[in-house]
Amino acid sequence: MECWHIRGGRRLNGACFVQGSKNASLPILAASLVCPAETELENVPRLRDVDAALRILRHLGCKAEQRGTRVYIDSRVLDGSEIPHELMEEMRSSVIFMGALIARCGQARLSLPGGCQLGKRPIDQHLAALRQMGARIEEDRGEICCRPSALRGEEIRLPFPSVGATENIMLAACTAGGRTVIRGAAKEPEIAALQDYLRAMGAEVAGAGTDTVVVDGFHPQSRVGFRIRPDRIVAATLACAAAAAGGDVELRGIDPGQFSTVLDFLNRAGCDIITSDRSVRLRSDGRLKAVGEVVTAPYPGFPTDAQPVLMAALLRARGRTAITETIFENRFRQVPELCRLGADVTVSGRTAEIWGVERLKGAALTATDLRGGAAMIVAGLSAEGETLLFDEGHITRGYERFDARLRALGADVVLEY
Ligand code: UD1
Repeated sequence: MECWHIRGGRRLNGACFVQGSKNASLPILAASLVCPAETELENVPRLRDVDAALRILRHLGCKAEQRGTRVYIDSRVLDGSEIPHELMEEMRSSVIFMGALIARCGQARLSLPGGCQLGKRPIDQHLAALRQMGARIEEDRGEICCRPSALRGEEIRLPFPSVGATENIMLAACTAGGRTVIRGAAKEPEIAALQDYLRAMGAEVAGAGTDTVVVDGFHPQSRVGFRIRPDRIVAATLACAAAAAGGDVELRGIDPGQFSTVLDFLNRAGCDIITSDRSVRLRSDGRLKAVGEVVTAPYPGFPTDAQPVLMAALLRARGRTAITETIFENRFRQVPELCRLGADVTVSGRTAEIWGVERLKGAALTATDLRGGAAMIVAGLSAEGETLLFDEGHITRGYERFDARLRALGADVVLEY
């Protein structure tokens, strides 16, 4: 059990670089399997989820190791296409290994993925699309088995712009015969990152960032080098922390456009925000105003992953904010914990109503999931006294050395293992 000791009430000041993106790294680690190649990735965050992906690669016979923020993968030899349950259950993104294995081997056997308990999180769209492309997939008691199949390009229409389904189809399409067109594709920046990586690998892919992604062919490269871009959700978390605690923080190396919906709400809440191409400076006196209605939506809408941390930043904001979660059914698990700090939040169906309170008081909390845990850190930073946050490793799945990063900005935070 990890324990975060957070002494609130200190302003955050200074500049920091934002870690590489977890949600871009994980599909790219799976994609390294698509053809036999040596891959070198830079700026990969050191996280439990990244370790889990490297373990899956090694289980499949690849060489895969991380040194600092560099990852080396040699996927020239692959000696299996099955992933055991204990490796799959560690994280949600393991589902992307399905598309990668089908692309490389024409077959795969794996169990349903783990990850944060945010709701049902079905993968029916992934399976329907792969089947449409010719994958012979059977499901049996939580196991997914794709028998040897030759995939063909197809025109696929996604009923919802699922990030995971778009990624799985893009990978499977690399080695499918002919052209694959994904309509209704997810437009998240992580899709564009995957497209850039696949292009470096030799795939002809276009359209990422729009609702139509086209995969046309593949000229496999034997060496691939790629740099992971900064994490927009970690940037959003740091911005929310500075907004709530007060201070003057510059986030460097990050494209503000990738989390502009979060910055817009922080600006509306009273923060002073200056952006350039690759940095954001946020100043806050810690006394925020409520922002009215927030509704999560697929990119470029307000990200579901930033919903808990924005909520945490607004707990002391004057007035009422209503946050509606449209992506996951069970994404307010942080609320009862935040209320222990004295917050006034009530959940009704898919909407959480926040009435700003004058002050929060430190308490003992338990992290419920990755972003919910991050929200508790944000709230703890603006609470009086000490908050103890117990965590079974949710937060370190996605935040690299977050305690040290916050300390460098002047926060009083210690993470005890
Ligand atoms: C989602 C987020 C992504 C975030 C990630 C991690 C969206 C659109 N996606 O991606 O930004 O980084 O969580 O927290 O915000 N669905 C189905 N059937 C499917 C696939 C998805 O019904 O086959 C539904 C899900 O239940 C959910 C929604 O579609 O309600 C979003 O799913 P998807 O984008 O696939 O989720 P992730 O890939 O986990």
